[in-house]
Amino acid sequence: MAILSVLLPPAPPLKAKAKPVDKVDDDIRRLIDDMLETMYAAPGIGLAANQVGVLKRVIVLDIARSEEPPTPLALINPEVVWASEETAVFNEGCLSVPEHYADVERPAEVKVRFLDRKGVRQEIHAKGLLSTCIQHEMDHLEGVLFVDHLSALKRNMILRKLSKQRKHQAESAL
Ligand code: NI
Repeated sequence: MAILSVLLPPAPPLKAKAKPVDKVDDDIRRLIDDMLETMYAAPGIGLAANQVGVLKRVIVLDIARSEEPPTPLALINPEVVWASEETAVFNEGCLSVPEHYADVERPAEVKVRFLDRKGVRQEIHAKGLLSTCIQHEMDHLEGVLFVDHLSALKRNMILRKLSKQRKHQAESAL
């Protein structure tokens, strides 16, 4: 397993649409394991393949609290087959937008169909944080960041601060 580097804007894969996985093989399972290791190391509760520069429809997540046993989940080719009319607002963050958080409104519950790491078709009915997290990660597969749900004013403010942070970090690393 390996820890991969997580891309930040304006890296092109963050804006690109990921392609469906046509065969769940050892390469995909290795990608999943590397993504999980990268997510746990960050630490984060979700990661999409786009964020590590791989344009395949793969997301991983684990919403267990730190004192609980880990519950890693990997979804391949996830598709929302039902979304509730009721919505929920969560204060979201993202490993590709470090240190910035904002409220995002999304359907409160979703049913998602996907392939598991054995290539077996599964369906999950997600509520609460799990629902938000799956939708956030699935957005990445479409090239969408959580800041894209905000007003242009808020989004640009966050992206500007992020690029200043990065410049500062790059300078202090010299
Ligand atoms: Ni994210």
